[in-house]
Amino acid sequence: MTTTTPSGETSAGQQPEKRDWVALENKYYQHTFKRNLVMERGQGARVWDANGTEYLDLVAGIAVNVLGHVHPNVVRAIQEQATKLIHVSNLYINERQVELAEQLYNLSGGMRSFFSNSGAEANEGAIKLARKFGRLNRNGAYGVISMERSFHGRTLATTAATGQKKYQDTWQPLPDGFKQVPFNDLDAVKAATDEKTCAILIEAVQGEGGIYPASTDYLQGLRAWCDEQNLILIIDEVQAGMGRTGKFFSWENMEVRPDITTMAKGLAGGVPIGAMLAAPRADIFEPGDHGTTFGGNLIACAAGVATVRTIVDEHLVEHADDLGEYLEGRLQELRSRHSSLITGQRGLGLMRAFDLADPKAQDIMDQAMERGLLVTNAGPSTIRFVPPLIIERSDVDEAMEKLDASLSAL
Ligand SMILES: Cc1ncc(COP(=O)(O)O)c(C=O)c1O
Repeated sequence: MTTTTPSGETSAGQQPEKRDWVALENKYYQHTFKRNLVMERGQGARVWDANGTEYLDLVAGIAVNVLGHVHPNVVRAIQEQATKLIHVSNLYINERQVELAEQLYNLSGGMRSFFSNSGAEANEGAIKLARKFGRLNRNGAYGVISMERSFHGRTLATTAATGQKKYQDTWQPLPDGFKQVPFNDLDAVKAATDEKTCAILIEAVQGEGGIYPASTDYLQGLRAWCDEQNLILIIDEVQAGMGRTGKFFSWENMEVRPDITTMAKGLAGGVPIGAMLAAPRADIFEPGDHGTTFGGNLIACAAGVATVRTIVDEHLVEHADDLGEYLEGRLQELRSRHSSLITGQRGLGLMRAFDLADPKAQDIMDQAMERGLLVTNAGPSTIRFVPPLIIERSDVDEAMEKLDASLSAL
């Protein structure tokens, strides 16, 4: 039998085989994604495909590659850790895990961490913790109120918490105890709260739903309502965290402190990780309540420590704030040049979006890709920007030129 190495070299001879990755994916991978670009390498805010074509990457793994691609600090941390110990299980103390938890404790003003592998898992942990709080403090209450247009993950419970019909319909019946109310509407939350409610779950800036920030009054109103009713406030920071909005945690923009906050995406600069942080009021898990085999693995936490340290040392939170303002200004110019196509814009820091008069987001992404620019969408009529925090003004200028040409070509 002839086998093929990852580089395409065959065991039968030295001649490297040129592989048709699109056809092979079609044959071997489940059809969960629609895609045809084969990515090969990256550096900073740039990626190159298998044909050597360069792209300015403003998708950043959908808000994951906060330090851009292959940042030397992250690469070094992974390499050093991999030569010492890769995995030990959560039966033992893992130094990198404690270091990352210490960084997050200091940045969050005293919240303790539990690490998982993804955002959905972090939210599952948050829901379980809130249910335990409800059991102990609110006569067994277990209900979670979340928001319309929200996104919290793809597990069954986080799908039930996600306020978008398109993610829910196929999987009915979903777990009990979840309901959604309109975003930025405090009265709707109050009206939906009953004796079964234990928590309110919200993104301070809705990401997948289209980059909608919560108003300060609303989020502060939710905090006060949770205090008054003895509920847990969970803020999902999976997309908006890690400095993206011009604050390390997006809820700092609204001067609100949650009882539980969840993180993932950018936390380890591209290595899979999730985190569920609890303030003292909600920090009630005991041994046996929750666990994970891989969560908080040494490699993920080593990458996480390096990522958080780099964000702090290189003042990337302030940089995101500054560049976000610049991007907002350049988007306003783009909008005035294409006023019949672009109908609105929103965002905070380097988390921005513009709306289209027609559902043409896919056409714009295709046009931009042809011009060497990667942007993503949030639904059929919204273009979303979640670039690496390390981008420069010249990158924004280049992106705007390419978008200008893409919009003109529609
Ligand atoms: C706000 C938010 N929460 C949760 C998730 C789920 O994260 P993951 O895909 O890592 O499970 C996402 C993913 O896009 C997200 O944007």
